[in-house]
Amino acid sequence: MDAFIYIVSASYVSEGKFRSLANKLVASAPCRAIAVRLEATGDGFWHALDHLSAEGASRIELRPIGLPFSQILETWIPKAAGSWLDTYEGQPPDIFFAEPLQSDGEFIKHAACATVRRRQISPLTDGELGKGWNEPPAFKHHLLVCTGPRCHLKDAPNLLAALKAELGQARLTSDCLVTSTGCLFPCNNGPVLVHYPSGNWYKVTNLTDLRTFVSQALRAGKIPQNLLIHQTGGIHETA
Ligand code: FES
Repeated sequence: MDAFIYIVSASYVSEGKFRSLANKLVASAPCRAIAVRLEATGDGFWHALDHLSAEGASRIELRPIGLPFSQILETWIPKAAGSWLDTYEGQPPDIFFAEPLQSDGEFIKHAACATVRRRQISPLTDGELGKGWNEPPAFKHHLLVCTGPRCHLKDAPNLLAALKAELGQARLTSDCLVTSTGCLFPCNNGPVLVHYPSGNWYKVTNLTDLRTFVSQALRAGKIPQNLLIHQTGGIHETA
């Protein structure tokens, strides 16, 4: 059985917009297909590989969607798929990486001339900023949760949702400004959670780690040493 995985890289696309695109891609696919995104929300593409191989897919093609598709991700995705193959028990499927769409001249020509709906833009007195975006909300703790590609692969979106639930249970929601971010660099130690003003960086992999972080770092003001990977101002490798 052949299968496609459509891979979308778009941090600032809402779940609804992504789902709409995903449904259209899957409906148009010539074979069994799944669409995943690399950042922000949803399951990582390792899960999609798990699903398709469990269904009996023997050839899986990874098809990047996006124009242009990131060169860094183009290099990284085959490595991430190779890591998945390395841990596979039994006969793994053959996996192929399709060239990004920018390499298809016909597609580019179509994108340049496609007839699409358009809307006229009027002058706007508030300009690009709009009202209500002058001050950050009041908060005591700024929590940066990486949902970049490599942390996303390690279930960062689910951890982000779990963190918000834990903060709610601990009645700390209004004390915390939670921001999801792109890659923060220490990917091998992901999923990464950074706490300011302390400047402590943590590796948080599961619910137990999250609860330890909330009870120790936020409630008790202590450093959960077993989770600590870095401190702002400390010596670190250059990227
Ligand atoms: S993707 Fe999270 S630190 Fe790189």
